[in-house]
Amino acid sequence: GAAELGPYRHYMQKEIFEQPRAIADTLEGVEGIVPELFGDGAYKVFKEIDKVLILACGTSYYSGCAAKYWLESIAKIPTQVEVASEYRYRDSVPDPRTLVVTISQSGETADTLAALRHAQSLGMTQTLTICNVATSAMVRECKLSYVTRAGVEIGVASTKAFTTQLAALFLLTLVLAQMRGNLSEGEEAQHLKAMRHLPVALQAVLALEPQVMSWAEDFARMQNALFLGRGLHYPIALEGALKLKEISYIHAEAYPAGELKHGPLALVTSDMPVVTVAPHDALLEKLKSNMQEVRARGGVLYVLADADTRIESGEGLHVIRMPEHYGALSPLLHVVPLQLLAYHTALARGTDVDKPRNLAKSVTVE
Ligand code: G6P
Repeated sequence: GAAELGPYRHYMQKEIFEQPRAIADTLEGVEGIVPELFGDGAYKVFKEIDKVLILACGTSYYSGCAAKYWLESIAKIPTQVEVASEYRYRDSVPDPRTLVVTISQSGETADTLAALRHAQSLGMTQTLTICNVATSAMVRECKLSYVTRAGVEIGVASTKAFTTQLAALFLLTLVLAQMRGNLSEGEEAQHLKAMRHLPVALQAVLALEPQVMSWAEDFARMQNALFLGRGLHYPIALEGALKLKEISYIHAEAYPAGELKHGPLALVTSDMPVVTVAPHDALLEKLKSNMQEVRARGGVLYVLADADTRIESGEGLHVIRMPEHYGALSPLLHVVPLQLLAYHTALARGTDVDKPRNLAKSVTVE
């Protein structure tokens, strides 16, 4: 009811602003990087695997897509991410030395549960779920679990569940990195420090809301939008586009920026805003040339830059600068302004933010 909403107009807005608390709760009690964070017997399970298969749907699938970059670059473990409804029905090549990881806010999504059972039926018994509901079928049916502590999520468009999933997946990455000899003590300490800083970092990003609201005024008049990212931030572009389409009903697509010239550039006009997630990383120079390609066609850019990125606002180029440079945890911070952009755009268009048409919070039937 209204009381629970406090100062907020919608559950989605409240849940976006709860993220610093949700992340703090999810990481509470994490003193060091130990396998048992994922349950009793985790050490033994993690010793029996040499690859990871992530299965999920919707927003949870995108957190898995981001985790793949961490798992391969930090833990050096081969990782595959698949939409649960595809995996369950295709012929695949099972390998018993696979850690099957399901990601689910509800723990009851029919396709994700069926995909888990399918993997088990193929002899893959090393299973772990990252899930927000401790009493769910997913937690019951997986050997190991990490229960995120986002708290009850009511808005159909997932927000705090996503960022808490990313926090749990980053922990998984560090545990597997350590077990595989790819994490020095110094690196462990550095990563833990960065994780503990997340609530404060998130709070500072949430303070960018007024700037995002001015972007939303432009977006509310658009029919289409394009989201670009590279590397770790391509899944964040995907999630940004999903949020916008779910609640504002604006057609939005995400592309890895390098693919721009292989299709979407043909769509770029002044009526097609292009959101670009542009932290200062190894791909920034390439991303800048993708942005030039958009500008040269009259496209208007909305750029999320971090503290280290030297891009200034100008003609057809709107920059919101994030307060810091975030390193490996960058996707977790960059998604927040995109959640706010979707929220404020939907608000301006007068849609039912918490209950978008045709969508359900949890899809428990196929
Ligand atoms: C529905 C919800 C999404 C969610 C997806 C997967 O589509 O509207 O917000 O990401 O299901 O749900 P799960 O509970 O498995 O994360």
